[in-house]
Amino acid sequence: MNTSQIDIASRNLESTGYLDIDLDPTLDLFSAIEKLKKQKNAVVLAHYYQEPDIQDVADYIGDSLGLAQQAQKTEADMIVFAGVHFMAETAKILNPAKKVVIPDLKAGCSLSDSCPPELFKKFKEQHPDHVVVSYINCSAGIKALSDVIVTSSNARIIVESFPKDQKIIFAPDKNLGAYINKVTGRNMLLWNGACMVHEIFSLEKISKLMVRHPEAKLIAHPECEEPILRMAHYIGSTTGLLKYTQTDSSKEYIVATETGILHQMIKANPGKTFIPAPPNNSCACNDCPHMKRNTLEKIYLCMEYEMPEILMDEELRLLAKKPIDKMLEISATAGL
Ligand code: 13P
Ligand code: SF4
Repeated sequence: MNTSQIDIASRNLESTGYLDIDLDPTLDLFSAIEKLKKQKNAVVLAHYYQEPDIQDVADYIGDSLGLAQQAQKTEADMIVFAGVHFMAETAKILNPAKKVVIPDLKAGCSLSDSCPPELFKKFKEQHPDHVVVSYINCSAGIKALSDVIVTSSNARIIVESFPKDQKIIFAPDKNLGAYINKVTGRNMLLWNGACMVHEIFSLEKISKLMVRHPEAKLIAHPECEEPILRMAHYIGSTTGLLKYTQTDSSKEYIVATETGILHQMIKANPGKTFIPAPPNNSCACNDCPHMKRNTLEKIYLCMEYEMPEILMDEELRLLAKKPIDKMLEISATAGL
């Protein structure tokens, strides 16, 4: 690799989001990444929505709660975060002494983008008697304005930890918020945000699929819209969905979440069939375009050159850490 190519790539990082450097096509990326892990005492944390090759090189694969817990306790010097920006940012907030690198800075999240801090601050000011419960899929700016953070695996117990008459704002996911309202009997005020991937499923196509596969169970992530959730046999976080397929006796599942999770479901359940829930058009829109910006090449490059790196303003980090710490405390007490 010549140095001018590296210089140009690092100067362009802000516009490209990743190090655009040509790699020798014969390079065995799997063993090169393993070598870098040892050399740099690095750990690769990956979300279930990452492409299968990335999941296969990861040291830990998990849902948002599991990833935050791993990031908090890791003793590695460098955290390579194969997920989206808010996840890597959460890792940095929790463990600032570590270098946190992300394969592609532009791996964002439509849900997080639907809640800009300046607008949310005004909304919050209009409801001074409410506490703010925010889904982890939000920026550090939103976390800093929140009383507690939740993930899809602990939202219910955290909301239930507040007195019944406590007024609550839930942000940014209106679908998860509506689901938690339903199961807890609360009436939280919902921010009008949603995930582009989980809103794309077609109720009509899923219903037809269920008729064609009468034995199949529909399992869904709570970011899906209410009509889909109403039909689901099981609703849970990505880890919850995976565990369900391992304990349930059915042989066939229609999976209403991002397709990346199927890799672990297939691996963990030989002989079972997993059908991705169809979107309401003919493209592969149930692939998250943000999660899928990461590639094995970009993982290798961010490890080798230790960039792009997540850096944060210390004042913002401390404000954002408080509600995440609260979430981790409640989760630990609940054995999650
Ligand atoms: P979990 O893996 O925590 O269920 O979250 C899903 C998701 O959409 C992450 O962006
Ligand atoms: Fe965001 Fe949805 Fe992608 Fe998750 S799947 S990162 S919520 S856009």
